[in-house]
Amino acid sequence: MNPVSQRGRFITFEGIDGAGKSTQISALVDLLRVHGVDVVQSREPGGTGLGERLRELLLNVDMHVDTEAMLMFAARREHLACVIEPALARGAWVVCDRFSDATYAYQVGGHGLEAARCEALEAWVHPQRQPDLTLLFDLPPEVAAARVAASGAGPDRFEREQRDFFERVRAAYLARAARDPGRFQLIDAVRPPASLSAEIGALMTQRGWL
Ligand code: TYD
Repeated sequence: MNPVSQRGRFITFEGIDGAGKSTQISALVDLLRVHGVDVVQSREPGGTGLGERLRELLLNVDMHVDTEAMLMFAARREHLACVIEPALARGAWVVCDRFSDATYAYQVGGHGLEAARCEALEAWVHPQRQPDLTLLFDLPPEVAAARVAASGAGPDRFEREQRDFFERVRAAYLARAARDPGRFQLIDAVRPPASLSAEIGALMTQRGWL
């Protein structure tokens, strides 16, 4: 058996909308599979039947920020119980598009949720679990907004927010990364996709994970 596949790793991708995470998630999952790693690719909010239904509501229906945070963590609770923890327990890797750092960035940083409420939900839902590695895709909101507009997809409730919202989300992500430099890896997301994939592949090797 390939030794890299014996211990599960939990890798999350974070960043403001339009940072280019999706392409890089696919590239990393492909790379891991080439190395024989058992990988589960997932996303938040979502990742389970119930979670995807909550995602529909979260992305389309206006709601109080407390409700938003509680639904994000409700979807996350289900995701952890049904997908993330079972995968890690069998030694698979989980590559996830967003996790709790997104709630700190978007609900606390962007929408003004009290940080203590987010901390309480996090302590309830995953007191022992944190990602092994979080790749934070950082770029100026105006560059990200141009990418979202060019994608042609109709913007969701979050993507319709104004630039100052994304400045706050970005600042909240960077502050969180500064507090936990061992877990976070900052990625300069302005660079072209091929150079980002190469950097992420190199990171796996540097950590001795591949
Ligand atoms: P994402 O899947 O990155 O969007 P897309 O499918 O458009 O690429 O994320 C969905 C949105 O949900 C994104 O705008 C960020 C938001 N979000 C939060 O506000 N809080 C959270 O805890 C999570 C996980 C996502």
